[in-house]
Amino acid sequence: MQLNDTIVVTGGAGFIGSNFVLDWLAGSGGRVVNLDLLTYAGNPANLAALTGDARHVLVRGDICDPELVGSLFREHRPRAIVHFAAESHVDRSIVGPEAFLRTNIHGTFVLLEQAKQYWSDLDEESRRDFRFLHVSTDEVYGTLGPDDPAFSETTPYAPNSPYAASKAASDHLVRAYHHTFGLPVLTTNCSNNYGPYQFPEKLIPLMILNALEGKPLPVYGDGANVRDWLFVKDHCSAIRAVLERGRVGESYNIGGNSERKNLDVVGAICDLVDELRQDAAMGSRRKLITFVKDRPGHDRRYAIDASKVGRELGWNPAENFEDGLRRTVRWYLENMDWVEGVRTGAYLKWMEQNYSERLS
Ligand code: NAD
Ligand code: TYD
Repeated sequence: MQLNDTIVVTGGAGFIGSNFVLDWLAGSGGRVVNLDLLTYAGNPANLAALTGDARHVLVRGDICDPELVGSLFREHRPRAIVHFAAESHVDRSIVGPEAFLRTNIHGTFVLLEQAKQYWSDLDEESRRDFRFLHVSTDEVYGTLGPDDPAFSETTPYAPNSPYAASKAASDHLVRAYHHTFGLPVLTTNCSNNYGPYQFPEKLIPLMILNALEGKPLPVYGDGANVRDWLFVKDHCSAIRAVLERGRVGESYNIGGNSERKNLDVVGAICDLVDELRQDAAMGSRRKLITFVKDRPGHDRRYAIDASKVGRELGWNPAENFEDGLRRTVRWYLENMDWVEGVRTGAYLKWMEQNYSERLS
């Protein structure tokens, strides 16, 4: 069996996945078969620009369903799988970890097993060209002190949240399928993404929308936790580079060279919303910042050493944080229809569940 110029993307209706699919097709990549369960985090509206585009097929389905996954591989004969699908929110993994174990661990296992079977039936040249790219996180490495060196690909795994533990388990499975069966895998471990289409349960979009509406801005703990922020379009270009030129069996850390304290991020968002939506009666939106009960087990600092992907593949982030944040704030302010579309009953229930106790 030979390969088509098709890739299967999982979770391509979520935040990073949809940015990747749009970017891939804009960059004249081949067809995309997009397998997404459309959970609360998946939104076909992210892909509205592709309506009527025959190069994109959205299949609503579960990565845990081996028959569906196997039949998609045999029907479309992809040259690569790019695996984004996951439960991705740390706070939800604390309230209800089971869905994380199911999708992130078992789902990745099903994909690997079906990919192995499909790949084994390919001719020799196609077997050599096929790739399974697994998108993971820097959270598998645990937490850093203020002066610790940034995470590199050789930093030992020490996941602290159920989310991070489930992603770590999936990374180990991916590694094992390469080591034991020779499946041509690649893994990327990236830092916190931000940009258009991020579901507003995550820090940056949540703060933009609350600031706009004059609601409290709930900062966990003392707000001095540090994240390394990666503009989502830079992440998409990194995945492309790893898919095209990455060494099989390797992991690549992807970061934005933009370590910031949460409190500084939230303050910068306040200033941008003040500037772009001037409201004399409101005054500075920084007064909305409200310190709330911390996340249990909250990792203090993440930082990425992305020198391997720079050295080997020539990839570096193009966007600096200040410009990327401005673009992001502007995008949310100009896309309030999209925002209203994702604020369903389930979203409101989560906001009540996560914040009512923290704020009181
Ligand atoms: P997201 O939560 O926005 O989207 C996840 C997508 O997966 C959704 O479209 C959802 O419907 C789909 N999905 C969930 N369960 C599924 C299942 N069982 N079968 C098929 N589809 C399913 O997530 P995201 O922020 O876009 O993250 C994408 C990937 O990148 C994840 O693997 C995540 O761990 C990783 N990652 C994200 C970040 C970040 O900052 N967002 C950072 C590092 C790594
Ligand atoms: P988040 O966007 O959930 O990403 P992650 O936990 O995967 O890094 O959170 C980013 C940081 O912001 C993290 O340190 C937790 C913090 N945070 C708040 O202070 N308040 C909030 O309401 C949220 C959602 C996050």
